[in-house]
Amino acid sequence: MAIRKIVKYGDPVLRKKLKPVDFKKIEAELPALLKDMEETCLSVNGAGLAANQIGLDYRLAVILIPEDEKGEKKKRFVIINPEIIETEGMITDEEGCLSLPGMFVEIDRAEKVKVRALNERGLAVELCATGLLAKALQHEIDHLDGKIFIDHADPRLKPQIKKELKKLAKTWN
Ligand code: CO
Repeated sequence: MAIRKIVKYGDPVLRKKLKPVDFKKIEAELPALLKDMEETCLSVNGAGLAANQIGLDYRLAVILIPEDEKGEKKKRFVIINPEIIETEGMITDEEGCLSLPGMFVEIDRAEKVKVRALNERGLAVELCATGLLAKALQHEIDHLDGKIFIDHADPRLKPQIKKELKKLAKTWN
């Protein structure tokens, strides 16, 4: 088990649209990989991590949602080859990303989503989500499509975001 290095904004792998994966091809290495992704995400108090954020190029993400108020216990969701099949409503909230530490921007997301994916056992599942899980699903699936949350920011804010990112990038390793 190991904490992986998280790819930072500016790396081209974060702009790649990732391909679906044949579950059988990753099945053997999946338990160890998921443990690494979970540990990596927890080490920086994240709510989710997509495969390209640790340099992998297929559609897989891990989401960790606090189960209690203190956030000590977390429920893990694994999504492989996920697709959003339905959305409903709209909600504006502040969002951040482990690949852009220190950057937080208010963006619009669907309030509810229905996602079809394979789970960690390779079974087809449908997740209907609201709240933090809905937000995390949209954020992580965006990553798998080569999108980053700031893409959704108000265009008027983009010059300021660019300036702040330049400053922040100096603090990343
Ligand atoms: Co992110």
